[in-house]
Amino acid sequence: MQITSFKQYEEDYKKSVENPEQFWGEVAQNFQWRKPWFKVLSWNFNEPNIKWFEGAKLNITENCLDRHLATNGDKPAIIWEPNNPEEESVTYTYKMLHERVCRFANVLKRNGAKKGDRICIYMPMVPELAIAVLACARIGAVHSVIFGGFSAKSIADRINDSQCKVVITADGSYRGNKQIPLKDVIDDALIGCPTVEKCIVLTHIRTPVSMLKGRDVWWEDEVKHVNDTCEAEEMDAEDMLFILYTSGSTGKPKGVVHTCGGYMVYAGYTFSNVFNYKPGEVYFCTADIGWITGHSYIVYGPLSQGATSVLFEGIPTYPTPSRFWDIIEKHKVNTLYTAPTAIRSLMSYGDEPLNGKDLSSIRVLGSVGEPINEEAWHWFDEKIGHGKAPIVDTWWQTETGGIMISPIATVTPTKPSFATLPLPGIQPILVDENGNEIEGNGVMGNLCIKFPWPGMLRTTYGDHERCKQTYFSTYENLYFTGDGCLRDEDGYYRITGRVDDVLNVSGHRIGTAEVENAINMHAGVVESAVVGYPHDVKGQGIYAFVIYPEMHGEAELSKKDILQTVTRVIGAIAKPDKILFVSGLPKTRSGKIMRRILRKIAEGDTTNLGDTSTLLDPGVVEEIIAATKTL
Ligand code: WTA
Repeated sequence: MQITSFKQYEEDYKKSVENPEQFWGEVAQNFQWRKPWFKVLSWNFNEPNIKWFEGAKLNITENCLDRHLATNGDKPAIIWEPNNPEEESVTYTYKMLHERVCRFANVLKRNGAKKGDRICIYMPMVPELAIAVLACARIGAVHSVIFGGFSAKSIADRINDSQCKVVITADGSYRGNKQIPLKDVIDDALIGCPTVEKCIVLTHIRTPVSMLKGRDVWWEDEVKHVNDTCEAEEMDAEDMLFILYTSGSTGKPKGVVHTCGGYMVYAGYTFSNVFNYKPGEVYFCTADIGWITGHSYIVYGPLSQGATSVLFEGIPTYPTPSRFWDIIEKHKVNTLYTAPTAIRSLMSYGDEPLNGKDLSSIRVLGSVGEPINEEAWHWFDEKIGHGKAPIVDTWWQTETGGIMISPIATVTPTKPSFATLPLPGIQPILVDENGNEIEGNGVMGNLCIKFPWPGMLRTTYGDHERCKQTYFSTYENLYFTGDGCLRDEDGYYRITGRVDDVLNVSGHRIGTAEVENAINMHAGVVESAVVGYPHDVKGQGIYAFVIYPEMHGEAELSKKDILQTVTRVIGAIAKPDKILFVSGLPKTRSGKIMRRILRKIAEGDTTNLGDTSTLLDPGVVEEIIAATKTL
């Protein structure tokens, strides 16, 4: 299933378009199924209703673990690198990981979890997080992993939306020199979560935690009560595998649903190809398992291919900005898959942190999460890849399950700041505002996908209509990505960023409406409008225009109060970088905020604000511009 030449890429691509069922049917043969499918694909984008490998039975953990045991049981599956470099790293072979997953799967059963139940996971980046994820999949429970940076309220909203029965967490986590009390946050969340019956708590940082009788149990105690034999639950290809919440242009995050069969095939196929993974190599993805990148390219993709995946607990700058390079040297990492924001941040320290570091093991580099600017691309290429490692700039989304548009390492060409060509099976098209296809090269438009692929979302949890409205209704018969895109003269794709009201801050997706709702919850705030602006390291920063007529005390303190409210409501990741108090917002006569104007002001470009004559009160713009001078 691994593509080895450009010619083969072209042939496979052609075949995947002309005969998608045959193409994906053959790819799927590389996986282990309990029972084969009777139909590779049935679909329509109207309802939408998408089914891949109908009738097939499988368990994804048999593909990620059991099938490697006979030949590769002693091969490292996960190498865990702790936050503190003085602590020992830990290697789990496939045999060990299999044993731990089975054991913890039995713990889940012992605590009442069964097939179809939803389980919330809120954990640090430790091996037990991967074990928890796989243990859910083993018994057919649906995991909903929540990133460690979200607040109690965000957790509670997500738990309630999918009625989770069990929560898996830890006492706390380390992030650089900080400690985060995860169980405390969970305790606050669970006050408002009536469906949660059990909370399993891993000891990690050994901070004191409250343990509620009848609800809370310790991970370490529970595993002593069970054995390590756990037959994998037989799942239908279209049974739910997991829910992952993501932000959109409305206030409430939605639970993107992925299913067992198609997701497995797509994550495995794209991992093997995009990174050109070779048996025995060490692969390091720096994402957090709380995001889709961690799901597909730390856990399921690599493990389904018998790869060795590095799982790093810490942050790139702790204890020094050499940390990534130390890890590469220590574990002889062959592939580094990271985010532009991390690259830009490390770049800002100059060459010193790279001095004396042996990066000669690096063969492939990857980037994900946001557009990578040329300067960062070249730095990555020269300083980390020494001009010899292809950079795969991978464009994809939580909803797509896996990489969609990307170079294939060593096989297809790269081009700075371009995601380049669609992978086999992916049919991108650009459309104009009215949904008309923009053909030819050297054009720009909104990026849509016109044919299903196995890794695509099936629904949004509990609200299929929302899935339809968000992704399949903007343009008839097309999946709309929300991204703007350029197709250059060579036919290469370059993603230009979101065209909806979604921000991408340090590679994290945040809805402007979500941040506005959080700010508006602050006592005394009348209204707010949030836009993104270019930020050197984060890609985008958050700029909030806030109407707060009778603020409490001085302005600087009031801003901090608002940040505190946002941290409570969403989490620290959504804190605005800039807050500007204003007396009014530019609105049309129908009451719609003209964000275009605010974006320009936030960018510091007030020379050409375009037509402001349709504004209810054009004077407000002058006032806002004057106020920016005070920031
Ligand atoms: C953006 C992350 C440019 C894009 C896997 C998309 C990118 C959103 C790239 C999805 C890239 C992701 N170049 N932009 N290589 N990769 N994006 O759901 O705007 O967290 O819609 O998935 O990130 O973010 P999500």
